[in-house]
Amino acid sequence: MTDVAHAPLRYDAAGSTQEREHRMAPTAGTQSQDPVIDVRGLTKTYATGFQALKGIDLSIRRGEIFALLGPNGAGKTTLISIICGIVNASSGSVTADGHDIVHDYRAARAKIGLVPQELSTDAFESVWATVKFSRGLFGKPRDDAYLEKVLRDLSLWDKKDSKIMALSGGMKRRVLIAKALSHEPTILFLDEPTAGVDVELRHDMWEMVRRLRENGTTIILTTHYIEEAEDMADRIGVINKGELVLVEDKATLMRKLGKKQLTLTLQAPLERIPDDLAEYPLELTEDGHSLVYTFDVQAQETGITALLRRLTQHGIDFKDLHSSESSLEDIFVSLVRQNREARA
Ligand SMILES: Nc1ncnc2c1ncn2[C@@H]1O[C@H](COP(=O)(O)OP(=O)(O)OP(=O)(O)O)[C@@H](O)[C@H]1O
Ligand SMILES: [Mg+2]
Repeated sequence: MTDVAHAPLRYDAAGSTQEREHRMAPTAGTQSQDPVIDVRGLTKTYATGFQALKGIDLSIRRGEIFALLGPNGAGKTTLISIICGIVNASSGSVTADGHDIVHDYRAARAKIGLVPQELSTDAFESVWATVKFSRGLFGKPRDDAYLEKVLRDLSLWDKKDSKIMALSGGMKRRVLIAKALSHEPTILFLDEPTAGVDVELRHDMWEMVRRLRENGTTIILTTHYIEEAEDMADRIGVINKGELVLVEDKATLMRKLGKKQLTLTLQAPLERIPDDLAEYPLELTEDGHSLVYTFDVQAQETGITALLRRLTQHGIDFKDLHSSESSLEDIFVSLVRQNREARA
């Protein structure tokens, strides 16, 4: 996998200057709308006959953090691998920063850094040699100061002379990130970068991702920790069984599909909800101690004032109330479930 990913690339002086300009230009919150990655009608049928991608159309905006979510086997790694030129598509096209990934492979690949899902590294090399070698493969001129900064940012500097096989799993993952950044890519793919890493590394990694984004790097990541996507992403894509089920701004998605709940803890337990209140989306908890009112986040009127008045009229008093909002995880689970039911 990594062999192909690091196929030797020609150094293109003009490309390099442009690249630096790109890195400086957009800052957080000012992403432009022109796609930095454009995927059209992409399908993939593996040699086994299994169709892993069924016609994907996707545009990634320059400078954004895009989170690709989906259950195991949905096709996330397949999609990323095709964009990065590791797996061939069956049909469709992809451009990276305007370069076709097939016809203009080297130019496209030079823009991209990939942190693969699978850990595979050159066990006998030192950290420093590996990272330097990676940069060299992309034909970039030697820049030890840049590589030192990458290793320092990843807290790997004190391990620079260690052989990779002597590192822990989490440190090996950091090395993969350092390798992916070695040629100063403007587009970074992170395929489950935080799977199986400790809290501290996860935190460091997200700090680093934010810094990269501030420098104008576009970031596409997959994760099964949905709260990460909720924290980090500008946009969310959900893929299920080889199809993109949805692509949406995170904020819009949460507003559109999110529900809010108001929970009232009652003074005295209730046996049942009075018939008269049947029109309200109310639920009584099993112990009869709380009433849960679900309402739409988008709705103009929550109906809460009216509800509270009606409850008082019925002599239902409460001693406490709190509200909660659905998380991206709730939204994701219900989306994937809906999609499954729709096809059943
Ligand atoms: N080389 C291959 N040959 C045949 N089938 C494959 C191959 N690689 C992947 N697949 C199949 O394609 C589907 C998508 O796999 P992929 O690795 O893209 O999923 P994923 O979304 O990345 O899953 P995960 O969350 O587990 O990483 C799966 O059903 C998988 O078994
Ligand atoms: Mg995967």
